[in-house]
Amino acid sequence: MPPFLAQEFVHLYGTGDHEVRSFFAPGRANLIGEHIDYNGGLVMPAAVTLGITATCRLRSDRLIRLHSSDDALAVQIDLDRPIEPDPARGWGNYPAGVLRELLLQEVNFMGADVLFTTTLPQGAGLSSSAAMEVLTAFSFLALAGAPTNDLKAIALLCQKVENQFVGVNCGIMDQFAVALGRENCALLLDCESQDYHYVPVALGAHALVIMNTSRQRQLAGSKYNERRAECDAVLRLLGTDAPRNGLVHAPWESILSHVSDPVLRRRARHVISEQARVEQACRVLAAGDLAAFGRLLTESHASLRDDYEVTGPHLDAIVCAALQAPGCLGARMTGAGFGGCAIALVEQVEIPDFTSSVRSAYLAATGLEPAFYVTHAADGVHETTRKG
Ligand code: GLA
Repeated sequence: MPPFLAQEFVHLYGTGDHEVRSFFAPGRANLIGEHIDYNGGLVMPAAVTLGITATCRLRSDRLIRLHSSDDALAVQIDLDRPIEPDPARGWGNYPAGVLRELLLQEVNFMGADVLFTTTLPQGAGLSSSAAMEVLTAFSFLALAGAPTNDLKAIALLCQKVENQFVGVNCGIMDQFAVALGRENCALLLDCESQDYHYVPVALGAHALVIMNTSRQRQLAGSKYNERRAECDAVLRLLGTDAPRNGLVHAPWESILSHVSDPVLRRRARHVISEQARVEQACRVLAAGDLAAFGRLLTESHASLRDDYEVTGPHLDAIVCAALQAPGCLGARMTGAGFGGCAIALVEQVEIPDFTSSVRSAYLAATGLEPAFYVTHAADGVHETTRKG
């Protein structure tokens, strides 16, 4: 444990007899396949190097105390009382929901003191909530001496918490990426069968730059649910022609013959075309054709802007600035949209000029100061306790 973390932990909780252990869960950037997980298709997210660390020590009673180094709110949970969602608990609802679910699954753990520290911007579309959930599940399984190797089960448990306890009707992509990410690979996940495999992301002289619009995701919840409802409406209109395994599998001809509403048609066109782009992305990445991969990213953004309408002025401005900046092969929003982050594929030697060019164009267009993180595909959740 780095000395500053040890100090902060002891300052908060004092010294104690049990071992202090630490765990890390990354955020994720979805490379391509946006708004596809709940439509039964293929997505290609990668865990990133930014993430959340939990420093934990068991207690001898049944009390859980949680602190986050970037939020003054202290959270306390008594394991002998029912754990219900509570707006006053703020960010603490993510770990609380996971603890409740672990107890329901009869994982047997004691109380603990936990300090969360993060390098992941909150509410920026990099899955800080999934990271917090997966981190809590993994840490408490480990503290309980239970197996932590079924990462798929951990991801599914956390998605259930997000859907039922937190109340966000998300798909399965984020929790899978955070749990199962792998260094230098993207996760190619079939959201219908939940089968996955790893696709090497060999970027050579290029790097992935995450660009934060500094615009918190707006309306993300309500518009997200609206898009899900629109996809369901398309399936209903397809009637007996509706594919059983999700809208991504609908042939475009059947959309043309059953769906006359122009908005619903555009929503379906995004879903079907984005799925085709994921398949192409696999092929061009395997062939090492980064220029083609970059073009697919940019086409994905255009489809999310024009057909799915989930980008908004800030994401459009930063992607537009990126596409005009030196060394950029392609760029797109990542995550749910409506603010948050975009990614760009950038030639490494050009990164300083790229970021300064995007910064000035974006600042001039929006008045907001963007942030940049140069990252690469990283491992999913794991223990970081230093032994010995
Ligand atoms: C959010 C959700 C995911 C996924 C993306 C859009 O990140 O949590 O399940 O639907 O939006 O691709």
